[in-house]
Amino acid sequence: MCTAWGKVRGRNIVRRVSFRHSGRLKRFVGAKIMDIKRVGVIGAGTMGNGIAHVFARGGYSVVLCDVEPRFLERGLAAITKNLDREVGKDKITAEDKASALKQIEPVTDRARLAECDFIVEAATEKFEIKTEIFRDLDRLARAEVILASNTSSISITKLGAQTKRPDRVIGMHFFNPVPVMKLVEVIRGLATSQETFSETRNLALKLDKTPVEVNDAPGFVSNRVLMPLLNEAMFAVMEGVATAEAVDEVFKLGMAHPMGPLTLADFIGLDVCLDIMRVMQDGLGDPKYRPCPLLIKMVDAGWLGRKSGRGFYKY
Ligand code: CAA
Repeated sequence: MCTAWGKVRGRNIVRRVSFRHSGRLKRFVGAKIMDIKRVGVIGAGTMGNGIAHVFARGGYSVVLCDVEPRFLERGLAAITKNLDREVGKDKITAEDKASALKQIEPVTDRARLAECDFIVEAATEKFEIKTEIFRDLDRLARAEVILASNTSSISITKLGAQTKRPDRVIGMHFFNPVPVMKLVEVIRGLATSQETFSETRNLALKLDKTPVEVNDAPGFVSNRVLMPLLNEAMFAVMEGVATAEAVDEVFKLGMAHPMGPLTLADFIGLDVCLDIMRVMQDGLGDPKYRPCPLLIKMVDAGWLGRKSGRGFYKY
């Protein structure tokens, strides 16, 4: 058990150190107890690098995999910047930052994930891409390894069906910025076993996150409720009811949202918002999930929000 409780600054880091020293998550495979020590993360984009950040900060060794070295370099630069932010806020020490960075091994060879005890996929939000990854992971990873997806709306049941281990496939949906947001939606596919659910839930707790159980349905809970709000805010702008700034002020000052819906849409990425609306429109078949034509037009123009320098605002 951890003996350093009184010596470490800040509540988060005290918890973090306790996780690192209180033993890894135990996994039961038959009569054998297995430790989750090495975690694979696929995708070094915003979500993937945030997920790698929290696992490394939690004392796990991380294999971070992306298709090109430049994506890995960009992801590691973001992790370094965000760890610096935490050092600056006195949440962690400079030594904690250095040891977290040392825990992350960037790789382009997906076969390296065969060494991992738990894998989280955070690749592009396209069904065909995730399908290919899940088939490959099923081939690569040991039979007992849980394959989790950070998908924000794609069916966990369908991803599970791509594998020979649908009982060990689950949704582990983090929120941006991952190092800050407490929530992890833990999504059960139709075939996900209770053991897989419990292990994933425990792992989220070990990362100092709050897991919330959700069943598989288009958009889960978070995006089923959030995206129609953002979409409706876009309709309000498109119809000239108010400017983007005015809509955002209404939500910040009237509803105490930290960001207005259009700032949030830019932050999430307008292409991601459109993809999620389409998954819900297709999956639920209700016209209330119709994407706002202004959203479609902006995505067509390459105005994807913060990441492209232009969305409802200019960056
Ligand atoms: N990494 C680490 N820490 C970060 C960070 C990052 N990327 N970004 C911000 N922070 C930290 C800051 O250091 C700061 O820490 P303290 O509270 O200890 O000072 C804290 O977060 C707040 O940051 P700032 O003061 O710089 O800025 P802010 O007060 O405006 O907060 C925010 C920024 C946390 C992003 C806040 O605006 C917020 O909560 N926005 C809403 C975010 C949200 O809704 N996310 C969910 C998106 S949906 C999604 O992710 C899932 C999906 O499927 C689409």
